[in-house]
Order: sequence, then C-alpha cells, then structure tokens
Amino acid sequence: MSEIPVSEILDRYPTERASSLAVLEDVQREYKYLPREALETTAERLKMPLSEVYQIATFFKAFSLTPKGENVIKVCLGTACHVGGGPRIMAAVEKSLGIKAGSTTPDYKFSLEAIRCVGACASGPMMLINEQPYSKMTPAKADELVERLRSGELAPEPTEAVTVETAGPPAPVDLSAVPPAG
Ligand code: FES
Repeated sequence: MSEIPVSEILDRYPTERASSLAVLEDVQREYKYLPREALETTAERLKMPLSEVYQIATFFKAFSLTPKGENVIKVCLGTACHVGGGPRIMAAVEKSLGIKAGSTTPDYKFSLEAIRCVGACASGPMMLINEQPYSKMTPAKADELVERLRSGELAPEPTEAVTVETAGPPAPVDLSAVPPAG
C-alpha cells in the first residue's frame, strides 16, 4: 500500500497555521507516525516555524515521531485492569512478540504499548489491537489473538483513530532530543 504524499494531505486544508493540527492528524493516520520530512513540509507550506510544528507533534500523545508497526497492540495497565491481571497480559504479549512494551519488532509488524484506562474498566483487562477493543483478556486469549494476527486470520487493517485532546498549551520542546525519522 503506498501512502498518500504529505503535499496531497496539505491540499485538503487552508494554507494557514490553524490547519496544522488537522494536517498532522491525517499524516499520523496515513503513515502511523510523523516523519521528519512531513513536519518540514507542513511548516513550510503553512508558513510556521518548524519548532512550532514540533511542539504540536511532541505535545499530543496521539502523535509519534518514530515509525510504528503494521499492527499496534495496546494493553491497558490502568488501575482496574492492573488489578484484574493487566501485567500478566502484557507479559504474555511481550513474550509472544519478543519485545518490551514501548517498542516495535525489527520487521515493523508489531508495536506494543502500555496504555491507561480506556473507559471500559468493568470489561477489563482490556487490550486493543489496531484500536479494536478486546475485553476480559487472559494471557491465553492474548496469545491466541497475537497468533491470529500473525497468521493473517485477524485483519491488520490500520484503523487507528487519532484522537487529540486540545486542552492546555504545548510544552516547550528540546529539538536536540528529536531523532530524525528514518
Ligand atoms: S483501567 Fe483499563 S479500561 Fe479502565
């Protein structure tokens, strides 16, 4: 699948600063992360300082500056899910994928993330695969889901919804800490 060029995404919006968040959301949805070049193109087209675009990109948790896997698995470790066995689910998925939470497999097939409450505490422990929720998880169920995903039985459809909360000002950003996208 070839990605839509960033210039085409920019064409969808007015050429003004106020479009930056929507543009970045679309880029994140398309590429599953924000490539450095995309930030540069966005800054140039919207006539914004690059540092300002980086501020937005690093402030909102929905954005990632590093590439993610084809499938993103999230295990809830919020209080209720933690008490219900979330850490055991995470351990099972880490073992199955051979990576730790917060990382991506070398072949970019899977990314694994720990998340906080997704608002379904009564159905926990919760796990999300490409934003599709799975409830009442057990380590065995997690193993089975990862296997189904690996075998293609579970569609790896990139359905990641980018939800950006806009409350609060962007925090200052240290640009020297931002790695170039590879
Ligand atoms: S703590 Fe996991 S859904 Fe609430």
